[in-house]
Amino acid sequence: MNLAQDAAMQASAQAALSAQPPLQQQPQPQSQSQSQKPVVELKDVHKSFGSNQVLKGVSFAIPRGQVVAIIGKSGSGKSTALRCIDRLEIIDSGTIHVCGHAVHDPAIDLRQLRQDVGIVFQSYNLFPHLTVEQNITLAPKAVKNMPTAKAREIAARTLQQVGLADKAQAYPEQLSGGQQQRVAIARSLAMEPQVMLFDEVTSALDPQLTGEVLRVIEALAQGGMTMVLVTHEMEFAARVADTIIYMHEGKVWETGPGAMLKNPQTAELRDFLSHGL
Ligand SMILES: Nc1ncnc2c1ncn2[C@@H]1O[C@H](COP(=O)(O)OP(=O)(O)O)[C@@H](O)[C@H]1O
Ligand SMILES: [Mg+2]
Repeated sequence: MNLAQDAAMQASAQAALSAQPPLQQQPQPQSQSQSQKPVVELKDVHKSFGSNQVLKGVSFAIPRGQVVAIIGKSGSGKSTALRCIDRLEIIDSGTIHVCGHAVHDPAIDLRQLRQDVGIVFQSYNLFPHLTVEQNITLAPKAVKNMPTAKAREIAARTLQQVGLADKAQAYPEQLSGGQQQRVAIARSLAMEPQVMLFDEVTSALDPQLTGEVLRVIEALAQGGMTMVLVTHEMEFAARVADTIIYMHEGKVWETGPGAMLKNPQTAELRDFLSHGL
C-alpha cells in the first residue's frame, strides 16, 4: 500500500469511526470580498522530506468555479502540493488558505476542512464488504450525522452524476476499475465539498475506462465545481482546465491557459511535452 492509499484509508476509517457530535453548520453570510476570495490559495509554500526539498516556494490561487490542472514529471512535487491543500502533508513555511480555512495553522479544524475538500486518488479504496451505496453513505452519516434516508438520497443523486444510478446495491468487486473510480468520485461528492482534488485518478485505468472517468470530471467542471487535477492527460487538461500549472523541481515553472501547451515558453516544458512523462 502506498502513502496515498494509506492516507485515504485512514481518512475513511476516521470518518467511519468518528464518534464526535456533529458540528453545527452555521450559515455564513458572505460579504462581496469574501465571495471573491480564491477558494484555494498557496503562497510561497515550502515542504521538505528530510533533506529532500520537494516544494520550493509554490504559489497559486484558484477562483471559485475554476479548474487548475497540474502537470509535470514524476517527482516534481505535484502530489505533495495537492496533499498539502488537504493537510495530508504539513508545510514547513508559507501559507495555504482553502475555503476560508488557514490550512497552515496548527489549530485548524481538520474536520471542517475535510468537509469542504474532496480528494480522489489513483486507488479508489472502496470497502469491499459494503455495497456502493453503503460506501457512499458512510462518511455523510458518520461525519455529518446525516439521517440514513437523506444520505441514501444523496448517494442516489451522486451516483446519477457519475452515470451509475443502477449500481447502488452492487459490491465493488462486481464493478470495473472505471466504475469503481466513479463510485469513489460519487463518495467524495456526497460530502458536498466546495473543492475537489484529483491525483492521477485515471493512471491505473485502460484507455476506455479512462474516458468514462474523464467525462465525469469534465461534467463536474461544466457544473462549476472548483477543482485541482493532477494529470498526465494533456489533451484533457488543455480542454478542461482554465489554468495549467507546469511544475518542475518543486516550483511552478510555467503557468497559463490550455493554449500554453501548444506554445511552451521554457525549455523544460518543451522537453516535458515532447518526451512525455
Ligand atoms: N511521504 C513522503 N516521504 C518522503 N518523501 C516523499 C514523501 N512523499 C513524496 N516524497 C518525495 O517527494 C518528491 C516529490 O514527490 P511527489 O509529490 O509524489 O511528486 P509527483 O506527484 O510530481 O510525482 C519525490 O522525491 C518523493 O520521493
Ligand atoms: Mg504524484
